[in-house]
Amino acid sequence: LVVKALKYDEELIKTAHKIASKGRGILAMDESNATCGKRLDSIGVENTEENRRAYRELLISAPGLGEYISGAILFEETLYQSTKAGQTFVELLNESGIVPGIKVDKGLVPLANSNGESWCMGLDGLDKRCAEYYKAGARFSKWRSVVSIPAGPSMIALRDCAYGLARYAAIAQDAGLVPIVEPEVMLDGEQDIDRCLEVQEAIWAETFKYMADNKVLFEGILLKPAMVTPGADCKVKSNPTQVAEYTLKMLRRRVPPAVPGIMFLSGGQSELESTLNLNAMNQAPNPWHVSFSYARALQNTVLKTWQGKTENVQIAQEALLKRAKANSLAQQGKYDA
Ligand code: 13P
Repeated sequence: LVVKALKYDEELIKTAHKIASKGRGILAMDESNATCGKRLDSIGVENTEENRRAYRELLISAPGLGEYISGAILFEETLYQSTKAGQTFVELLNESGIVPGIKVDKGLVPLANSNGESWCMGLDGLDKRCAEYYKAGARFSKWRSVVSIPAGPSMIALRDCAYGLARYAAIAQDAGLVPIVEPEVMLDGEQDIDRCLEVQEAIWAETFKYMADNKVLFEGILLKPAMVTPGADCKVKSNPTQVAEYTLKMLRRRVPPAVPGIMFLSGGQSELESTLNLNAMNQAPNPWHVSFSYARALQNTVLKTWQGKTENVQIAQEALLKRAKANSLAQQGKYDA
């Protein structure tokens, strides 16, 4: 029998509960340089290190952000950046009561002998990188793997996704970082909501089996699922009540109550849709803190408002606070459109 080190257990549980705290959720701002470039390109701003830094400073320096946001996921470059005035981003986040987090996966590549599916790289050297990120002030981490419903998904892709997430979660915990476990079931496809439920049940079953095998401390993780919805091209649409019903059914069947927080991704849903769906899930008490870890659904209007111009920083920050507050209310089931 392998005896597991307990070095960080208490701290992991504390960090996870700080992030999964009432009325708060995560700001996902960990776009890779390439993805951030696409976002900047959409508003005609050049993808330079300084422009990425300026945009991220706008986000995290929004006054009062910590009332609604408990954690911010950063890309490696951002973890080591500072404000124009010279304060490190890590310091600024901590001052605002926001836990700094870090994306640690190395992205997706084609999975040989699958149905054109992908697998997520980054386990090599992950222990050393996690130790460095902890030293730099990160206290949680994210690993995003994807599952494609139109591609099958094949059993080999599901297993690989689940096993990679479990190995990552164990390694991150070993270094004191709360792992966000994210097998993103993509929105693409014509499948109906029942098919989405079936695939989500399959991937979470595999993920929890391998996390248990790897002795992951469930009290010290956070999940980042996609909501259970019909595919983007399905002719039958769902309303928030139905999305909430299916998503909560999936969670109750697959997720132990030991897990403190479920922080959903927005996955291409509109800003309003993602808020309404979250609000519907919080109409009755849940065994876990059910909240958000949105990127696009928090940032779309912010980017459009900013346009790369200093004179727009304040109104862009107001747009961020508006979405963050709406989702904070939705976390408590109190959002009224
Ligand atoms: P979206 O909310 O834009 O889906 O992004 C969340 C995220 O971080 C995906 O990994």
